[in-house]
Amino acid sequence: MNMPDAVQPPPVFGNDAVILVTGGAGFIGSHFIRHVLTRTDFTGTVINLDKLTYAGNLASIADVDRQFGGGRYRFVQGDITDRAMLDGLFGRHRVNAVVHLAAESHVDRSIHGPADFIETNINGTFRLLEASRQAWSGRADVRFHQVSTDEVYGSLGETGQFFETTPYDPRSPYSATKAASDHLVRAYHHTYGLPVTISNCSNNYGPYQFPEKLVPLMLLNALEGKPLPVYGNGRNVRDWLYVEDHCEAVWQILTRGRAGETYNVGGECEKQNIEVIHAICEVLEELRPSRKGRYQDLIAFVTDRPGHDQRYAINCDKIKRQLGWNQRHDFAGGLRATVSWYLQNTAWIDGVRSGEYRRWIDRNYRERTS
Ligand code: NAD
Ligand code: DAU
Repeated sequence: MNMPDAVQPPPVFGNDAVILVTGGAGFIGSHFIRHVLTRTDFTGTVINLDKLTYAGNLASIADVDRQFGGGRYRFVQGDITDRAMLDGLFGRHRVNAVVHLAAESHVDRSIHGPADFIETNINGTFRLLEASRQAWSGRADVRFHQVSTDEVYGSLGETGQFFETTPYDPRSPYSATKAASDHLVRAYHHTYGLPVTISNCSNNYGPYQFPEKLVPLMLLNALEGKPLPVYGNGRNVRDWLYVEDHCEAVWQILTRGRAGETYNVGGECEKQNIEVIHAICEVLEELRPSRKGRYQDLIAFVTDRPGHDQRYAINCDKIKRQLGWNQRHDFAGGLRATVSWYLQNTAWIDGVRSGEYRRWIDRNYRERTS
């Protein structure tokens, strides 16, 4: 393993430290909280602040609540755009760190309706920064970590990679709002000295992901014998990272990263969308063969996403070199674990599907095939 070469003494965590995680009932946030409480030496408390939008689901964090609820884990339902609520929260708890994940996260939804993205991703981040700045005035034992995306860097052709120094060039309403919030986070560091870090990560996959995103959508559609809608020609490239590896990266940055720095996080696992879909079908053929035919035969090419970014490729040498982070899961193992999880956790799936999920999926498919 590489030895860290730029580690700052950990500023934040005593035995009674408090970490405020926003968006902890979502996909990555729920994994992050589970990671901190069960797989690190952290002994303090985690507060999960989540609005419970369509993407937030307390069932995704129920195991943590059973084990730590009322003690080292607390859930607060609230909206990060609500400044009075944030001030109350910071007033009641001596928060040491904010790990900011709450966001509207789905690109297609941002194309259909950007308003919620502006509100939560930009205004919400602004209010969270303001509340943190006010509550932390004069304190050195604090840290604000912004969880961001590789999409802020724009779109690549067949070659090249995104580095931490790559200029921002967001191209969807989603990535534009994430870019705006990253700029605000950096501005609070440069202007007010707020000790911030930012991570820009590639596509995550794993258990508990809301089935509007590529991997779980394909998986669940295949199991139902429904079409697998491939946007455009299926050759757009994404870099895939198992969600637990992302959580470990965020933890390393939070506890050992240098204030004011950005760290790219990625899987070093570039794949065309069509390759990902074939891989899902193959694992399903093995674990749950269908009597009705081959899963691959469900693949349907549909109208492309407007402004569809062609390729993302993350260079994550910096976090590897400076913090000693590395991916622990390869794509084959991570995908198998993910498919197995979805096959076993039908109650979680039924819960998610009973809500707003079906309306969105059906409408999106209708529009792309009409
Ligand atoms: P998600 O959509 O699964 O979860 C988002 C969570 O935020 C939900 O629980 C939702 O209820 C909550 N939320 C939304 N608006 C809120 C508000 N106004 N106040 C409080 N809570 C609110 O998203 P995710 O995929 O887990 O992504 C989490 C973060 O990571 C986002 O900031 C996203 O931009 C970033 N990210 C995601 C990926 C990915 O592949 N999923 C990759 C890189 C970065
Ligand atoms: O790169 C990081 C980003 O990854 C995160 O910041 C976002 O929050 C997250 O949603 C994800 O964005 P993408 O747009 O890359 O993910 P999505 O799962 O929506 O799509 C992945 C690729 O698959 C993309 O090229 C579009 C394509 N796609 C997607 C869906 C939902 C299809 O071909 N068919 C589909 O039905």
